[in-house]
Amino acid sequence: MKILVTGGAGFIGSNFVYYELAHSDDEIVCLDALTYAGNLETLEDALKNEKFKFVKGDITDRAFINKLFEEERFDIVVNFAAESHVDRSIENPEIFLKTNIIGTSVLMDASLKYGVKRYHQVSTDEVYGDLPLDRPDLMFTETTPIHTSSPYSASKASADLLVGAYHRTFGLQATISRCSNNYGPYHFPEKLIPLMISRALNDESLPVYGDGANVRDWLYVEDHCAAIDLIIRKGKVGEVYNIGGHNEKSNLEVVKTVLRILGKPESLITFVTDRKGHDRRYAIDPAKIHAELGWLPQTDFDTGIKKTVEWYLNNKDWWEHIINGEYQDYYKKMYENR
Ligand code: NAD
Ligand code: TYD
Repeated sequence: MKILVTGGAGFIGSNFVYYELAHSDDEIVCLDALTYAGNLETLEDALKNEKFKFVKGDITDRAFINKLFEEERFDIVVNFAAESHVDRSIENPEIFLKTNIIGTSVLMDASLKYGVKRYHQVSTDEVYGDLPLDRPDLMFTETTPIHTSSPYSASKASADLLVGAYHRTFGLQATISRCSNNYGPYHFPEKLIPLMISRALNDESLPVYGDGANVRDWLYVEDHCAAIDLIIRKGKVGEVYNIGGHNEKSNLEVVKTVLRILGKPESLITFVTDRKGHDRRYAIDPAKIHAELGWLPQTDFDTGIKKTVEWYLNNKDWWEHIINGEYQDYYKKMYENR
């Protein structure tokens, strides 16, 4: 089979490329626009594999996408391509609407036109909004109403609704997965965990938003890739699957864990002005994917966070190339005077 992986030069997409190259015989074509978040260095090893091909292009470019689908005749499309950072969506929502909503519709139109057998939309638990901190019994299930907080989550929810509409109206063979926060190798250092690791290694202050009590449900990225692999091969068309591993941690706990592993002092922690509309708590109930597809996460948080810190220690070149570039301007703009 031939699988199109969009956004495969980003964090989760690249981990999925490596997961498929290691676990299947399928041909993988990665399509990525190489925005600030895409990085070809990440795919250096994949590019040596004859089952893999990289194509640079934009999912919102209809003529280009149609030509690619006509030439390649994909069996499966897995759409990771997105603008993915909440803080950037608060600064400027427009590109989120274009890439995350229009891009999804362009890919689905091409999937219908060229007979794709399965279209999979990689979505997020953020479409469900947030949960209160004082109700640990509450978790997101697949039937929790969509209730978004940020322009990012609103754009992802809009795309999910379109996927549902294309399935019902046009018969698109589609599935959706909604995963909790991922962490692991190749995570762009604007997101919490890699930001804290890279800054702590340079003995720089660690900006924690608000009181640091917000809770995220962390999943090691390889477990997410394994879940998507199961869904595209065995999942039921028209269904939504939640993915998460019951690893709820407050941001402060996460940052302190990183500091402990690195042997750095907690005095690096600096509380800064809270994010606007900041979701309090996310927590996934993964009962459905476990019961229907037998998926269970393999990596607990203690193991995964140690592996992740080790990866950043062993791959300094990868993240230093990023933080030494235009990223400097981004950090100044978002954090100076905060
Ligand atoms: P990322 O920002 O690291 O990567 C996104 C990739 O998409 C980049 O390589 C970028 O170049 C590419 N891209 C952006 N716009 C494009 C366009 N118009 N055309 C083609 N390529 C384009 O994001 P990520 O963290 O790897 O997230 C991947 C997907 O998973 C997203 O859809 C995101 O919503 C979803 N998700 C992420 C998490 C998480 O914790 N990171 C959790 C759940 C779901
Ligand atoms: P992030 O990695 O941006 O993921 P998301 O907002 O999609 O969950 O942020 C994770 C949590 O960490 C979130 O509650 C915001 C918080 N955070 C900080 O406290 N400081 C930071 O510098 C960043 C980037 C995030």
